[in-house]
Amino acid sequence: SRLFAASRRLSVEPEVMKKNSSSAKFITLEGGEGAGKSTSRDFIVSLLSDHSIPFVHTREPGGTPIGETLRELLLSKKGVPPSVTTELLLVFAARAQHLHETIEPALAEGKWVLCDRFTDATYAYQGYGRGFDLNAISTLEDLVQNGRQPDLTVLLDIDPVVGMERARLRAELDRFEEEELAFFERVRAGYLSRASKDSRFKVVDASQNVTAVQADLAAILQPLLEGGG
Ligand code: TMP
Repeated sequence: SRLFAASRRLSVEPEVMKKNSSSAKFITLEGGEGAGKSTSRDFIVSLLSDHSIPFVHTREPGGTPIGETLRELLLSKKGVPPSVTTELLLVFAARAQHLHETIEPALAEGKWVLCDRFTDATYAYQGYGRGFDLNAISTLEDLVQNGRQPDLTVLLDIDPVVGMERARLRAELDRFEEEELAFFERVRAGYLSRASKDSRFKVVDASQNVTAVQADLAAILQPLLEGGG
């Protein structure tokens, strides 16, 4: 039976290793409101295209029909707002579908995934911003992600006073963007605290001009791109 156990292990391990040795990268983009996430995202998209890297570009909450419907509910200012618990479960429900329908299949096919926001946003907004228990978020993260984590997270960091000024000029504010400054100060502190503890984060000073931000992004992406095409 020891032999049986050994052969079972052998038949299982290559599958496990395949998942982890894929060269396709999972990149997430994070930041507060008005940090220039769209401009940076467009630039990263152009870098991937220039290197002929097959990729999927997607966002959270959203990225699937179910996820986009949940996004509308989350951002809507109509009616009674969701409780913090409801909000948390909705972002993770959208994420579960996103992993199932979009992210995992793309990575399995060797496509890179560039995702506007992921679970770090949940820690920052629902955890640090709204004050939801970080351990509970971690439990849901384990349940929903089954070990999946981004290979690289670019955090566009900006003083919320500057960021909200930019966001206000841009369009009508959604339910999150209507929060008070103190909320965004907590979100920023949450992001920075997480970034300081995990090397998958690269922090970009988003108060710089576009050229300087793009130079930072190019330098951050370079090591991945060299091994990627
Ligand atoms: P966006 O501004 O990147 O389009 O994201 C929409 C809003 O959703 C943004 O204000 C942050 C918020 N959000 C959360 O509160 N928790 C999450 O887990 C995610 C992904 C986004």
